[in-house]
Amino acid sequence: MQPAASWISGATRWRKVADCFTARLSVIVKRQVPSQAEPEQPGKVRVNHLAKIKQSGGRIAALTAYDFRTAQLLDQAGIDMILVGDSLANVVLGYPTTLPVTMDEMLHHAKAVARGVARALTVADMPFLSYQAGMDDAVRNAGRFLKEGGVEAVKVEGAGPVLAVVERLVEVGIPVLGHLGYTPQSVHRFGSNIVQAKTAARAGELLNDAIALEGAGAFGVVLECVPAEVARLITQRLTVPTIGIGAGPFCDGQILVLHDALGLTPWSPRLAKRYLELGGMIADAAASYIREVREGAFPAAEHCYEMPEDELRALAVDEESGERKGC
Ligand code: KIV
Repeated sequence: MQPAASWISGATRWRKVADCFTARLSVIVKRQVPSQAEPEQPGKVRVNHLAKIKQSGGRIAALTAYDFRTAQLLDQAGIDMILVGDSLANVVLGYPTTLPVTMDEMLHHAKAVARGVARALTVADMPFLSYQAGMDDAVRNAGRFLKEGGVEAVKVEGAGPVLAVVERLVEVGIPVLGHLGYTPQSVHRFGSNIVQAKTAARAGELLNDAIALEGAGAFGVVLECVPAEVARLITQRLTVPTIGIGAGPFCDGQILVLHDALGLTPWSPRLAKRYLELGGMIADAAASYIREVREGAFPAAEHCYEMPEDELRALAVDEESGERKGC
């Protein structure tokens, strides 16, 4: 039998060997296991890059997107910013205004967009009543877009009471894009008055709101449906970039609702340029498909899968007897 002392010293020796092995292994593991963080895509657009584009006299190109594949295509085309707009309500979900769209609906689409984007800055619109009813609500909802949605910033409409919300969100680390001029969540206040700030007095108010938004920490301001000269004045006065939609050519950037730019809607407002008539192309493609299915022209041989000849023979049915030949 082994004397107790020698057994203890043997155990100690083995513990030392094990400790040494563990220490070495942890060094190897530290060296070999890459960081859990994904390496950042070269040229990844961050909020501060938009200000740099403004400073260097460049122009920011932004579009809305609502799904994974479209976001991926826009990102690969080199778009600077993708907005998951609450226009989702109109162009994807078929609501007459942006008011009914919910946080959960917005989040569902924000997640899909974020999964498709590697380079562009991703921003999600905070839907109606997700930030107006209380500060805690606003922080929690905005936080959900970053935490669950995977986007990098949020957009809110208006100034006045919204300024405190912008300040608080920025304070907790959530970048905020402002939105002034025609703000669709106030559709029932605006009525049929789409173009805003058409008088000098209103233009002055809009300028003050834009300056206040910048002061509250917004990294940029969307200007919707305002005269080009008013947008020029605001753009000159702000350090952060302005992004126009129906606000003329002097803004630091432009944004369009994707469905307008692609011609997916039956008509577009004057502010939009239709770069494609995708709605007509989809209708034509659908009509061709329907005709070919009805005529038996689709599927053709190249769309069908084959099986080996012997298996085919085994499967063959005697036309006359109705019995399987090879089975
Ligand atoms: O919801 C949206 O698509 C927007 C853009 C028009 C700026 O807010």
